[in-house]
Amino acid sequence: MKKQFDAKKNLRSLIYDLHQYTAGKSIEEIAKKYNLDPKDILKLGSNENILGASTKAIKAAKASLEKVNIYPEVTSESLSNKLKSLHKLKNIEVVIGNGMDYIFEMLARLFLDNGDETIICPPTFSCYELTTLWAGAKPKYIPLKKDSYQLDVPKILKAINKKTKIIFICSPNNPTGNLINDEDIEKILKSTDKIVFLDEAYIEFSRKSHVNWIEKYPHLIIGRTFSKIYGLAGFRVGYAFIHKDLYKHYMNAVTPFTVTRPSQAATLAALDDKKFVNRSIKMVTEGKEYYYKEFKRLGFNFFQTDSNYIALNTYPKKSKEISLKLLKKGIIVRECSTFGYGGEYILRITIGEEKHNKRVIDALTKLL
Ligand SMILES: Cc1ncc(COP(=O)(O)O)c(C=O)c1O
Repeated sequence: MKKQFDAKKNLRSLIYDLHQYTAGKSIEEIAKKYNLDPKDILKLGSNENILGASTKAIKAAKASLEKVNIYPEVTSESLSNKLKSLHKLKNIEVVIGNGMDYIFEMLARLFLDNGDETIICPPTFSCYELTTLWAGAKPKYIPLKKDSYQLDVPKILKAINKKTKIIFICSPNNPTGNLINDEDIEKILKSTDKIVFLDEAYIEFSRKSHVNWIEKYPHLIIGRTFSKIYGLAGFRVGYAFIHKDLYKHYMNAVTPFTVTRPSQAATLAALDDKKFVNRSIKMVTEGKEYYYKEFKRLGFNFFQTDSNYIALNTYPKKSKEISLKLLKKGIIVRECSTFGYGGEYILRITIGEEKHNKRVIDALTKLL
């Protein structure tokens, strides 16, 4: 008799207990669920760029399709070299991957063994936790300080032990939007030689860079992405600045060809379109001021932001409840319960153009 297939039998045991990544909701999903016209849905739940992308980038991607039968550059060398020269780097290399998500996978591949530990400071981006768990390592949570959402440096330093391999820092932090204080990051870098991964997915909105710190602190790795300011989330390209001494080992472990030919072409061209980047910064700066003014007028409790999103403190109402009501009106925002540690009272809204921001404020005014 044929035995019934036991899906668990061959799996690593740690996989049983994992949970799936919770992504922001899609337009198609919400249109179907609430019987809405997709054209009327405003997608402000994933911190994408509502302006779209650079037309130069799209044109380059289209042109690259002519050679789609040929493998792309194995590790996106042209893009690495361009980023290196733009940042005028000396002892620092740039590695490219299929989204910053791929860089996280590489961190696990390079640094994490079963039983190792990472330090994560919630509420923050959930991929650090998933990266740790996939590797069979254990996340240690040192929450951000309650009122400032800054690092609790003494507790982080105390939590470091022999098993600690990576300390994850997100600046500007997702979902609260604030930059993490330089002095705190530097204190950690000075006190330990463990890998410090600084996630700068949104740094271009604050025009603050820490890349040259890697010369002084070779255990610092900085992650970036083309998904946010460049509006190329659909192409999935992320990168990291890494010290030259780590680079050789990184390249020995890397999966070849993870970035497609159109994605490489689009991102190379996007770097040349300063106008698009400046337009995006202008939109976010103006939108942020509008939200501050309106939230103050309405008496809402909100977080100052250095990113392309703004977070509202919805306490005592759960953000899930508010997000559901907005969804029914065709506005997708992010309730942050999956971020943990107070996230259930945080509602994160991607900043858009004036008309989008106004629609959100009008809807919130009626709801709250
Ligand atoms: C803080 C942070 N890091 C990384 C990412 C992932 O970037 P990518 O789209 O390049 O995988 C995101 C995406 O939302 C993010 O918010």
